[in-house]
Order: sequence, then structure tokens, then C-alpha cells
Amino acid sequence: GLRGQLLVILLVAGVATIVALTVFIERGLNRPIRLFLASMTAVERGDLAATPPSMRRDEMGELAVGFTRMLDRIRESHEENARLLEEIRRFNQDLQRRVDEATEVLADRNEALQQANELLFDLTRQLRRAEHFATMGQLTATMAHEIGTPLNAVSLHLQLLARSAALTAADRHRLGIIDQQIQRPVKTIHEFLAAARVEPRPRQRVDINVLIRNVTTLMGPALGAKGIVCDVRLAEPLAPIRADEHQIQQLLLNLLGNAVDAMPGGGHLRIETASGGGFVSLTVTDSGPGIPPELRERVFEPFFTTKGAAGTGLGLAVCRSIVEGHRGTIELASQPGPGATFVVRVPAHSEGVDG
Ligand SMILES: Nc1ncnc2c1ncn2[C@@H]1O[C@H](COP(=O)(O)OP(=O)(O)O)[C@@H](O)[C@H]1O
Ligand SMILES: [Mg+2]
Repeated sequence: GLRGQLLVILLVAGVATIVALTVFIERGLNRPIRLFLASMTAVERGDLAATPPSMRRDEMGELAVGFTRMLDRIRESHEENARLLEEIRRFNQDLQRRVDEATEVLADRNEALQQANELLFDLTRQLRRAEHFATMGQLTATMAHEIGTPLNAVSLHLQLLARSAALTAADRHRLGIIDQQIQRPVKTIHEFLAAARVEPRPRQRVDINVLIRNVTTLMGPALGAKGIVCDVRLAEPLAPIRADEHQIQQLLLNLLGNAVDAMPGGGHLRIETASGGGFVSLTVTDSGPGIPPELRERVFEPFFTTKGAAGTGLGLAVCRSIVEGHRGTIELASQPGPGATFVVRVPAHSEGVDG
């Protein structure tokens, strides 16, 4: 009857409602949630471009918009991170390159420093050796003179004495022994001198004027070619000196050589001699640039040179050594204006004194 129909209708309506609800839930909630889950999984895998589901106007739609915005922000911050990382990488690279460069420069400097050190060490050793030899040379020359000369005289007189007829055979024998004993140190000195390669040449009466004339005649053409006018003013007569002629000639050559070096474009050279007060003086003046006050003493130091590889720095050191070996002095005269003047003073040779 009617109740049965109503029941059927209600049943159908109920089923329809359930179906409709199911469809609604499925389409309105489950599906978007599944899609969300799918895009979240994609994001989790690192796919930040995954787009969330449909743009609906309900809460699901708003959720999707919010989700998209969040993804955009994450993507932006990822990109920013990547950019910063790249910047840091480049900075590191740059830093590494600079450190490498600096290390290389440092290594170069270190090497240069080490070479300079070795050079300095070498030079110091050479200097010490040169000083040692100079001292040895002076010492041996002094020894030869102070010991050798009187011993030779003693030996000579012993030999003369041995010829005397008044001597007994025993006396003669004793004199022979004395002479033999004296010969020993004389021989030792000779060997010592030979080892030091210093050959003391005999001192003789030397007229400096004669040496100057020889040297200037020798150097004349070279001086002329360099545009150097040479003015020689010799005092006549000049007191002789007792000297090693070769050394005095060397002294002259060194002083003239320096004067020539100082006037590469030509100039005036004056050589003067004078005597008086028991001394003979030699003055060499040039019209070069002169020597600055702070170098006045240094120029006499061995190895001091301002000529770089062209100089040895020994010229004036040798001059001083020679002059002092002759009990004289050498100095740089102070003078206003340019030019350099070297003054050498050596004791005059006094007759009768055999020294
Ligand atoms: N007549 C001069 N004029 C200017 N400077 C000089 C003169 N003579 C010497 N000097 C200076 O003294 C230095 C040392 O001289 P020297 O001992 O002869 O060595 P070198 O001639 O080998 O340099 C020279 O390098 C130079 O600077
Ligand atoms: Mg010189």
C-alpha cells in the first residue's frame, strides 16, 4: 500500500542523498586534498614548480592560493641561497688566487733575500780576508825591515870579524855557530814573506816630479782624447823622498784614474808638488762633481765605490795603505764648489839617515 511506496521513496531519497553527499565530499574535499598531497610530495622531492590544484572560490581555493604563495616564497629564498652560495664560491676562488699570488711573491722575495744574504756573507768573508792580507802584508813588511835588516848587518859584520887574524880557532868556530844561528831567522823571514806573497821592494831615493812626468807623458794622449786639459805645476827642485817607486807610481795612477772617471765629459786636471817643513806634498785636483761631505771618509774604505760594477772601491784604500806605509798622510781637501782635491804628504828623505 501507500506506506510501502513511501518507504521506497524515502529509501530512494536516502540513497540519493548519500550518493550526492559522497560525490560532493569526493569532489569538494577528497580530490583537492589528494591533489594537494600530490603536489606536497612533489615539493618534498624538490620540485618547487609543482602547482597546487584548481583555483576555486571556496576555502579550498584560498588554501591553494596560500600554498602557491608559500611555494613562491620558498622558491625565491632557494634562488637567493643559490646566488649567495655562488657569490661565496667566487669569493673563495678569488681569495685562493690572491693567496697563491701572494705566496708566489713571498717565495720570490725570500729567494732574493737569501741570495742577498749569501752575497753579503761572501763579501764579508772577502773583506775579512782582504783586511787580513793587508794586515799580514804590513806585518811582514815591518818584520822584514825591523828584524831582517839588522840581522843581515850582524851577519855581514860577523863574516868580516871571522877574517880577523887575531882570532883563535875556537873563536872562529864560535863565530861560525853564531852566524849559522842568525841565518835561521833570516831564512824563516824569507819563507814567511814568500808565503804571504809580499815582496818588499827596496826603498830608494825617489823624485816625485820625475814619476809625475813619466805618468803624465804616458797618460797624455788618453787625457787629450777625453777632453781633459792637464795642468802640471812642479816645484823645482823638489826634495826627494825615500820610497818604493812602484808604489808611488801606483798611488799616482789611482788618483789620476779617479779624476779621469770623475770627468767623463772632459775638464781640468791639476797636479802640483811642493816641499817644505821636512815634507813633500802632492796635490791632485779635478773639475768633476766632487765628493759629498758625508762620503769624505768612506771613500777610503776598501770596497767602497759609487761606480757599481765598474769600480772596485780599492783604489783609494790602496792609496792610503801606500801612503801610510811611507809614514805619510792622504786626505781630501775641503773646498768650496765642485771638484775634488786629494793631498798626499810624505816625509822628505833626509841625507845620512839610513831608515
Ligand atoms: N776625483 C774624484 N771625484 C769624485 N769622486 C771620487 C773621486 N775619487 C774618488 N771618488 C769616489 O770615491 C769612490 C772610491 O774610489 P776608489 O777607491 O778609487 O774606488 P773606485 O774608483 O773603484 O770606485 C769612488 O767610487 C768615487 O765615488
Ligand atoms: Mg778608483
